[in-house]
Amino acid sequence: MLSKHRNLVLVGFMGSGKTVVGRILATRLRRGFLDMDARIAECAGKTIAAIFQEDGEAEFRRREREVVREIAARPGWVVAAGGGVVLDPANMNDLCRTGAVVCLSAPVSVLIERLRGDRTRPLLQGDPEQRIRDLLAQRRPLYDAVPFQVNTAGLSPEAVAEEVIRLTCGAD
Ligand code: S3P
Repeated sequence: MLSKHRNLVLVGFMGSGKTVVGRILATRLRRGFLDMDARIAECAGKTIAAIFQEDGEAEFRRREREVVREIAARPGWVVAAGGGVVLDPANMNDLCRTGAVVCLSAPVSVLIERLRGDRTRPLLQGDPEQRIRDLLAQRRPLYDAVPFQVNTAGLSPEAVAEEVIRLTCGAD
């Protein structure tokens, strides 16, 4: 069992299931659940879309970095990270130092299907399918470098949670 004093952090592309699986894990492991986007929105007093629109992506990333620092300073959470948390190596250093970090992946066709019609994610405005393909191509090496990997293809959220527990149970 992962120590109660370590975080269990889910990363992965938008639509990979981090929030749904994170909630299941938090219930099963009897831990607090922290959704990074929700925390960022709460601290900013506005939605993620409004932060991007009014303050720009750099300000969003600054706020995201602040939340990572907060999580690393008080570990013990199940965390659903935002899809872009991998972009800053300092984030990954902090998260890997203070917890087990698991990347959820899904075939691009599944991500496109899940994110179809999404109006909330600022980075998918315009041609969402092309944006998904471009962002995934850019970020692939960063996601591949995450210590634990779960391919969610064909798995229910409960089965993904089970696999995350199995993979990380021996992690310190
Ligand atoms: C982002 C992913 C989003 C959110 C923001 C930026 C990204 O989170 O943090 O829109 O850069 O991939 P989800 O992965 O929870 O959708």
